[in-house]
Amino acid sequence: MSPSAPSRLRIKSADVLIAESGADLEGNGLRRSMGLFQLVCFGIGAIVGTGIFVGLSDTVAQAGPAVLVSFVLAAVTCVFTAFSFAELGGAVPVSGSSYSYAYATLGERTAFLVGWCLLLEYGISVSAVAVGWGQYLNELLGSVIGRQLPAALSNPPGAGGVVNVPAVVVMLLAALLLVRGIRESARATAAMAVLKLAVLVLFCVIGFSAFRAGHLSPLAPQSIAGITSGASVAFFSYIGFDAITTAGEEVRNPRRNIPVAIMVCIGVVTVLYCLVALAAVGALSADQVADRPAALSLIVNRVTHSTLGGGVIAFGAVVAIASVVLAVMYGQTRILMSMARDGLVPRIFERVSPRTSTPVANTWIVAAVFAVPAAVVPLDVVMNLTTIGTLAVMAVVNLSVLVLRRTRPDLPRRFRVPLFPAGPVLGIGFCAYLIYGTGLATWLQFAGFLLAGALVYALYGRRHSRLGQQAARQERQSPAGPARAAVSAGASAAAREG
Ligand code: ALA
Repeated sequence: MSPSAPSRLRIKSADVLIAESGADLEGNGLRRSMGLFQLVCFGIGAIVGTGIFVGLSDTVAQAGPAVLVSFVLAAVTCVFTAFSFAELGGAVPVSGSSYSYAYATLGERTAFLVGWCLLLEYGISVSAVAVGWGQYLNELLGSVIGRQLPAALSNPPGAGGVVNVPAVVVMLLAALLLVRGIRESARATAAMAVLKLAVLVLFCVIGFSAFRAGHLSPLAPQSIAGITSGASVAFFSYIGFDAITTAGEEVRNPRRNIPVAIMVCIGVVTVLYCLVALAAVGALSADQVADRPAALSLIVNRVTHSTLGGGVIAFGAVVAIASVVLAVMYGQTRILMSMARDGLVPRIFERVSPRTSTPVANTWIVAAVFAVPAAVVPLDVVMNLTTIGTLAVMAVVNLSVLVLRRTRPDLPRRFRVPLFPAGPVLGIGFCAYLIYGTGLATWLQFAGFLLAGALVYALYGRRHSRLGQQAARQERQSPAGPARAAVSAGASAAAREG
């Protein structure tokens, strides 16, 4: 489909999106400062965090020593979807990620719901990551000063506590840094990525030194069902690779670098996660690892018979996970800015402070709203909600590839998903499989969340949509009817912005 999209769906054409972003596809612009190495570090920075440091013990609780299979299944889901992200990131290299892709292919309503689900992938995910950070902070305090925070102040109700103070504190600190315009510099991002990988490699070395093959039996105590729900839990630790596509406008040669960086990141973390999982269940039995807080530190302490090793792991985790909180919260504020620019959420989210040049109100609202689940909702609930929201978004991304190939075959694509159309179709299938693994309670919570999103779109987004307003204005002026009005709305937006 050319820019002449049917107005009923309110599709924002790929050309308009690119024009609005001011994208320089050849990478000659000064703003395009990120190369492949920085992009890979950025990806590792957004991916490796609470999922492997904390969620591993939950995955083991479901899958037992077959945790490795769960990690591979989660990785396969990501690979299919990553191919789709790579094709879209190369064809429509703008910030906004899956939200923009959905706007360009499936129309405004779906884009709104994708943006709504991104509140789970980014917002609720920040809550989950912050809770994981708190676990390792407690572990670090234990090994440095010999005392931990009281359970009442470091756990939510239902998990032996009243309120999770460390999780709230790290979120407020991240917000403070973001409103002051302090983000990780390229060098800090690279340092964080190396630190995380080094800590996990250190864990593997220690874990494998105590490896006992006997710990791997029984391999799958809860059989296929355990492996399936384990894969859904393991999936959390891969979330974030799509953040690479949110940097679309700052990347040199995006049509090549975005696909390559996504594949490199998934490859590296998959190998590492499988090694970490194997080292964990080989060093201690699955029963000793399952559902333990700060499990990686615990394993190292048991193996080395001291708290020093666990303290080192905890220190690495505290520093590394804090950077994920910062990166993911940053991503959430930028997605809301994109949606506010399109008129789909209130304009306060696009307001930038002239003093700091950052979206101050947006950042504080995000921090305040998502600090609540961090404080009072158990970790498994926020992780599952993040997972199901992300999987839904990824299913839409796979669908977008199928649609864009048909509607815009003319767009230059540096990368094309292999095995088309089987690749994206398999991607959708794997997403559905992992959604199935999250279980009934999560499905119901997610259904309620989607319903709320549909209501917000009907009552607010649809009426305030700039694309809709533009089309309506032109429809009034144009004698040729709605379809032509949508065409010229898109074209005039492109001309104005470009
Ligand atoms: N993948 C990210 C983490 O594990 C969300 O913290």
